[in-house]
Amino acid sequence: MGGRVVEGTGLENRQACKRLVGSNPTPSATSQNVPVFLGAFCYDKFPRISVARPSYIFTGMWVRLSTERDLEDIARIDAVAGVDADRRALVSQAIAENTCWVAGRGNPPEGYLVLSPRHFFGRDFVSLVVVKGSARRRGLATALFQVAETSATTRQLFTSTNQSNRPMQALLEMRGYQKAGVIDHLDLDDPEIVFVRYLS
Ligand SMILES: CC(C)(COP(=O)(O)OP(=O)(O)OC[C@H]1O[C@@H](n2cnc3c(N)ncnc32)[C@H](O)[C@@H]1OP(=O)(O)O)[C@@H](O)C(=O)NCCC(=O)NCCS
Repeated sequence: MGGRVVEGTGLENRQACKRLVGSNPTPSATSQNVPVFLGAFCYDKFPRISVARPSYIFTGMWVRLSTERDLEDIARIDAVAGVDADRRALVSQAIAENTCWVAGRGNPPEGYLVLSPRHFFGRDFVSLVVVKGSARRRGLATALFQVAETSATTRQLFTSTNQSNRPMQALLEMRGYQKAGVIDHLDLDDPEIVFVRYLS
């Protein structure tokens, strides 16, 4: 997934959008594979996206901050959140704290990511990322990570995954994350590998 994410709010974003896509920021931006921060001016073009929440549009997909109304969809995306009260509470708290992002190609969302600010030794940490089985390998996690990297509050962004989780490791390597360490004794016989990316 190439392209830039435009940061800022309101007028700032509108002006930035104009700089990127010309005088009339519209979905045409998506045909250039440029993720664009949506402002209210895009509302009627993307009615499925709540522009009350920060939202980004990519080619063929969107990412936005989640709301309480997304909880049921997240439980459908993530089987664990569907049955595990602790996971559900974690997601619910992340939504309340504006640290849970959802992504999709249409409606409803098909993936989500939790970005926990200063959670890991004072550095931001991606604590959860899950894409619905039927929607994988279509770039949703890549888009979610791109937004997380844009929203991160620290120069280093950490995350972790089990040694057995090859898809997640492949995704992280593809996005320029490097191995930062290994934690044993969390899951039996499946060490947790910690990854970091230095953000510019
Ligand atoms: C890991 C996960 C989030 C990836 O989501 P995704 O939307 O399918 O990822 P993307 O489509 O953005 O993949 C981007 C790149 O990552 C790599 N990748 C992703 N899944 C892969 C797989 N199964 N095998 C090999 N490489 C893979 C590829 O390089 C891929 O690019 P490509 O499709 O052009 O080859 C998804 O598989 C998932 O939800 N897994 C279960 C939950 C999980 O393990 N979460 C991480 C720990 S919390």
